[in-house]
Amino acid sequence: YEKGNLLYTGKAKEMYTTNDPDVLWVEYLDQATALNGKRKVAIDEKGLLNNRISSLIFKDLARHGIANHFIEQLSDHVQIVRRVKMIPLETVVRNAASGSFERKFAVPHLTKFAEPVLEFFYKSDALDDPFINDSQVAALKVADAATVAEMKRQALLVNQRLQAIFAAMNVQLVDFKIEFGLTSDGKVLLADEISPDSCRLVDEATQQSLDKDVFRKNLGDLTTVYQEVLQRLATVEEGQ
Ligand code: C5P
Repeated sequence: YEKGNLLYTGKAKEMYTTNDPDVLWVEYLDQATALNGKRKVAIDEKGLLNNRISSLIFKDLARHGIANHFIEQLSDHVQIVRRVKMIPLETVVRNAASGSFERKFAVPHLTKFAEPVLEFFYKSDALDDPFINDSQVAALKVADAATVAEMKRQALLVNQRLQAIFAAMNVQLVDFKIEFGLTSDGKVLLADEISPDSCRLVDEATQQSLDKDVFRKNLGDLTTVYQEVLQRLATVEEGQ
């Protein structure tokens, strides 16, 4: 594939067109942001680590019947993906209380849920990505009911498979965020990335955070932590 024009600059990635109109070129950047982009810091190797981690996870999901936009990892920082029309919703799945859930409902940190909790957030930098429920999604015509149902179905399948992967790494999957797009023939397809930037991961042995909370809460060196996640993931994936 040949790199084309810059389409979009995100907080951790840049998207470019390619010579194939159905294919995009994604560059994972060596930077981290918090507070909806208000805090931004360059971090050595972060893009490379997230690209590798995300590529391994997308490949694993595809092998387990969960289709997604991943095509191939082209180089350290570049991933080739199928082009979709992004649905402006963040789908969050939670297995235990943390982050905004913990703050909102004042429940103890890492309280386990009997069933996964599903939430949507409306993607809008101007509005700081507010929580949105199904009828609000319908009112704003963000997505139709069938699309919302399909996103929920796939999100729960992703959760099942991710929990299995991370359990094999001795890591608790607390929560994560995914995003979906629509293919040209109208199918809901998992897109964006799945990495420690978008998951909360806790080491089962030490209870240490192995995700972006290290950066959000200044808990230590993010590169070291992401390297640890990649190393454990690569070991599990090699055994597959
Ligand atoms: O902050 P909150 O508890 O709602 O986040 C839930 C999950 O979604 C966390 O794993 C977090 O990393 C992820 N998230 C994200 N991007 C956002 C907001 C949350 O990846 N803009």
